[in-house]
Amino acid sequence: MSKNLIEIKKLKKEFKNNNSVVKVLNNVNINIESGKLVALVGPSGSGKSTFLHLLALLDEPTQGKIFLFGNSITNISEDKKNKIIKDYISIIFQNNNLLSDFTALENVAIPLIIRNQNYKNSIEKAKKVLAKVNLSHRLNYFPSDLSGGEQQRVAIARSLAADTKIILADEPTGNLDYKTSNEVFSYFLKLKEKNKTILIATHNRELAKKADYTLSLVNGNIKRKSK
Ligand SMILES: Nc1ncnc2c1ncn2[C@@H]1O[C@H](COP(=O)(O)OP(=O)(O)OP(=O)(O)O)[C@@H](O)[C@H]1O
Ligand SMILES: [Mg+2]
Repeated sequence: MSKNLIEIKKLKKEFKNNNSVVKVLNNVNINIESGKLVALVGPSGSGKSTFLHLLALLDEPTQGKIFLFGNSITNISEDKKNKIIKDYISIIFQNNNLLSDFTALENVAIPLIIRNQNYKNSIEKAKKVLAKVNLSHRLNYFPSDLSGGEQQRVAIARSLAADTKIILADEPTGNLDYKTSNEVFSYFLKLKEKNKTILIATHNRELAKKADYTLSLVNGNIKRKSK
């Protein structure tokens, strides 16, 4: 088996809008090894979210392929896709995507219940993870009653609770203050020690420096920058 967890070959992504075509990714070729914390940087609009959505199987590339554990995950059936997502991938969305009719605690527990875990254990685990992002006092709050940063921390907890091999985080510290950003980032570092692979899109240079390496997205291409 390949030592690369994720292999990306000749990846291209375009969006068609009315009569115009937006070319976002253009021939991206990179590999990501297991157990790495990788920062994805690039100007606003360069395609970071687009790239993470492709890796999370939420969108299909225009051309090219993505391999996970050496197997192509491009153009596979919806059933296979859903199984791969459930077993291996969690994503923290840039706009957090919390379920508005559920409390913070329920939002974090739901992915566990979906993964067939017992209800009581799911709630207990969700409480523990919410404590790690300092939200024990907001368990029964609905997203609309939480601040932007608190909502983002619930989204982070939801993804962490799922305990997947791959964690894709789209500007997870964007709404957080300095201290909380550092705390959240240190939690990602701990996950790396558990051999998780974490890809974080960020505009925060200081945090990017703490990653194992940086992928820089400029003009549709992604280049690896060594430290
Ligand atoms: N569904 C879509 N249809 C058309 N264009 C899109 C679509 N999604 C994204 N784009 C365009 O693709 C480009 C890249 O967007 P993307 O959200 O990936 O950027 P980003 O690097 O994440 O930016 P930011 O740092 O602001 O979050 C943008 O120009 C955007 O307008
Ligand atoms: Mg984005």
